[in-house]
Amino acid sequence: MKKFTSLFLIFAFVLCAFSACGNAASSTVSGANGDKLTIGLIQLVEHPSLDEIRTAFETELASLGVNAEIKYQNAQGDMANITTICNQFVGDNVDLIVAITTPAAQGAATAVDGTDIPVIFSAVTDPVAAELVADLAKPNGNVTGTSDAIPTQKIFELADELTPGVTSYGFIYNLSEVNSVSVIAQAKAYLDAKGIAYEEATVTTAADVKTAAETLIGKKVGAIFSPIDNTVASAMPALADAAITAKVPVYVAADSMVADGGLATVGINYTNLGKQTAQMAADVLNGKAIADMPVQVLNEYSVTVNPETAAACGIDVSKYTK
Ligand code: TRP
Repeated sequence: MKKFTSLFLIFAFVLCAFSACGNAASSTVSGANGDKLTIGLIQLVEHPSLDEIRTAFETELASLGVNAEIKYQNAQGDMANITTICNQFVGDNVDLIVAITTPAAQGAATAVDGTDIPVIFSAVTDPVAAELVADLAKPNGNVTGTSDAIPTQKIFELADELTPGVTSYGFIYNLSEVNSVSVIAQAKAYLDAKGIAYEEATVTTAADVKTAAETLIGKKVGAIFSPIDNTVASAMPALADAAITAKVPVYVAADSMVADGGLATVGINYTNLGKQTAQMAADVLNGKAIADMPVQVLNEYSVTVNPETAAACGIDVSKYTK
């Protein structure tokens, strides 16, 4: 057995020498003394898109051969919990913090300030507006990661194709989510240029979403738009129910929100995003410098429609279901 182990070690060493240990795909990453590394993994809240990212992240990390213990914590949508969790990770001196969503990434960046613990964020829509990096191409601190920047204009073009002639949109989002504020600014610029009106209903918690939807419907908006908002995504079925009852189409910014009853979106694949986040995490654990790791923006988009919602609202989406 002992002989076998040392043979294996030699083999591993040779493999390592040939691959220069730089490629996470062909090497096993572990701590300085061969002990397990620790990753603090924080997620803002549980909703389908974030759960998809986390699962893909964990699966990919394992298949890359990263020998790390993942300490997973969910902040249950509460910003105060984010601070507690991230401070705990720093207190435990984890080797890396992986933060899913913008609010979690902002909390992690604040907590590691003054330490040398790196942060890899996942699914941050606008990392510059969130002040996580000054420049996507050149991370200036100990923080980098993946972005799900969304094609706002393409979503409105799709809306114009599926439900032409909408003269006013209703926006529903949480003002404290920078990810949403940034997309809403793009939406306003697009609609202003077209001379299309809009109304806003903002929410603070998922419990506010139903009332906000009813407010917009009461104002007779022609369609509702939700940006990539975690608070709205957490209560998407409530928004969809209210809108379907009133036959108001809801355009959203993520495929999971379509699955939860929204009419349509143009968006990215979150499994791919989770995998890319794992590759970046493996690189950091392998010793790669954050400064050499630009933010990775996923820019392959596809249209997702919900045929049941479409049928309930009397909208033809057959072009996208074939
Ligand atoms: N992009 C969001 C952020 O920056 C997180 C997110 C990922 C999300 N997938 C989503 C939000 C789907 C709403 C719906 O925080």
